[in-house]
Amino acid sequence: MKRNHKTTIRDVANKADISVTTVSLILNGKGDRFSEETKEKVHKAQTELDYYPDYYARGLVGQRTNSIGIVIPDIMNPFFASLGLSVEQAAIPKGYFPQIFSVNGFKENIDYFIEQFASGTQKGLILAAPGASKEIVDKLSTHNNIPMVLTDQADLNIDDDRVLINEEVSGEQIAEHILSLGHKHVAFVIPESLTMNLVKRFTGYEKAFKNHNLRIEKELIFRATFGPEGGVEAAHKIVQTNATAVIAINDDVAMGVYKGLNLLDKRIPEDYSVVGFDDINLNKYLTPSLTTMAQPIDEIGEQVVELLINRIKNPSSAKKTIILNTKLKIGDSTRKVI
Ligand code: RIB
Repeated sequence: MKRNHKTTIRDVANKADISVTTVSLILNGKGDRFSEETKEKVHKAQTELDYYPDYYARGLVGQRTNSIGIVIPDIMNPFFASLGLSVEQAAIPKGYFPQIFSVNGFKENIDYFIEQFASGTQKGLILAAPGASKEIVDKLSTHNNIPMVLTDQADLNIDDDRVLINEEVSGEQIAEHILSLGHKHVAFVIPESLTMNLVKRFTGYEKAFKNHNLRIEKELIFRATFGPEGGVEAAHKIVQTNATAVIAINDDVAMGVYKGLNLLDKRIPEDYSVVGFDDINLNKYLTPSLTTMAQPIDEIGEQVVELLINRIKNPSSAKKTIILNTKLKIGDSTRKVI
C-alpha cells in the first residue's frame, strides 16, 4: 500500500479512540507512563492507517536541507562512535550534515524507532544497525523510498547499496592466529544473540578450527553483555576452565576481559592470550597492546557517504556493494602456548 500523505495524527487518535496528545507522546517514544494496551492500540491504528509523522513538513527537527541520518546501535560502543565521526568527516566537506541516531535504548522495538528516526527529516540514511530486521530495511528503501546505504550488516538486503567488510575471512584469520600459536582450548566471549555480520564472523572462527582439525568447545562459549562489562563477567568464568586463550567478539568486550583477568591476578599473555576485533581508538591505551582485526573505519565512512550522495543524486543508478578488507594487527596480548 502507498503511504497516504493525508493521514494525520488525529486520524490515528480517532481510530485508537485515544487523545492526540497521548498518541503523539507514544509515537515520539515518550509514552513510558502509558499501559502496554494503550501503546498497542496506538501502534495498531498507526499500522492500519500507514501513518508516519512527517517531522520535516512540520518543521520540528532537521531543519537542514542537506541532513543525512546515521542509525547506530549503541553510541557507547567506540566502534560506532568512530564510525559516526568518519561519516561526519566525509560528509560535511561535501555539504551534508549527519544526524546520529543511537537506538541503544530501544532494543525492544528497534525497527519502530529506526522508522521514527527516518521519517522525513533527512535526504538519506546510513543504516549501521545490525539488529534491524530485513522488513524494516525493505520498507525504508522501497516503501518510504529513502536513499539508503547499509553498513555493518551482512546480506541484509542485496538490493541496497552496501559497504561491508570481509567478515567471515576476518573471523577465520583472527582465530587462525590464535590456533597457530598452539592454543587448543579457546574461550569465546560473544553476545547473547548474534547479528548477521557476527554470525559470519563466528562462521570464520569455526572454519579456522576446522582447518586445524579442532572443534570449538561449546562449554567455552560465553554469552555476555555486548560491552566491557560482559568481558569482565566472562573472565570470572573463563578462569575456571582449561582455556588458554580468549577470542572476544570485539575490542570493547576484550577490554572487559583485560579488566576481569587483571582483577583475578591473571596475566596477559602469560596466562591467557586475548584477541578482539575492530581496532578501536581506545586500544592505544591498553597494556599489553591488543591483537585485533582492524576494521577500516575511516574508509567505511568515506564509502558510505559517497554511495549515499550518489544515490541521492542519481536515484536510479545501479546498486553497489563494496567489500573492504580488514587487517590483522598483532599486539602483545597473544603468544605461543608453552
Ligand atoms: O564493536 C562493534 C562490533 O559490532 C563491530 O565489530 C561491528 O562490526 C559490529 O557489528
